[in-house]
Amino acid sequence: MPTHTFSVNGKSVTVDALDDMPLLWVLRDMLGVRGPKYGCGIDVCKACTSHLDGRAVNPCVVPVSEADGGDVTTIEGLADGDTLHPVQEAWLEEDVAQCGYCQPGQIMAAVALLRETKNPSDEDIDAIANVCRCGTYFRIREAIKKAASMMG
Ligand code: FES
Ligand code: FES
Repeated sequence: MPTHTFSVNGKSVTVDALDDMPLLWVLRDMLGVRGPKYGCGIDVCKACTSHLDGRAVNPCVVPVSEADGGDVTTIEGLADGDTLHPVQEAWLEEDVAQCGYCQPGQIMAAVALLRETKNPSDEDIDAIANVCRCGTYFRIREAIKKAASMMG
């Protein structure tokens, strides 16, 4: 069995897994990192959104071999110790979550957007393709704008 070494939320990990095993399976089932949610498994719902080397990716369709030598960040690695990321703060202030299932992916997508676009327009925000079955899109939009102003 091939081995793969990469970092997850700042910690180096090595796993034995077939090269084409989805990174999401490795995170959730082998490493117990369950923030990235399994929804569709085919890159549609985006519930699994995480970052690989700072880019938003959907690990349900990223083979673990692509993570070799890279840095994976999930919702668990977003806060700095006890200090929440501004996007997480804004999410709480806007009371965004309902059932919560899609929310780790939504937050990780929002962080990636704000890295590229400091003051996103409504169109930029609406281009985030993460699905929310509870329909929290309006509050997501408000939270992203709040986070943008908090991040200056
Ligand atoms: S689980 Fe739906 S995009 Fe990954
Ligand atoms: S908060 Fe329930 S699916 Fe988004």
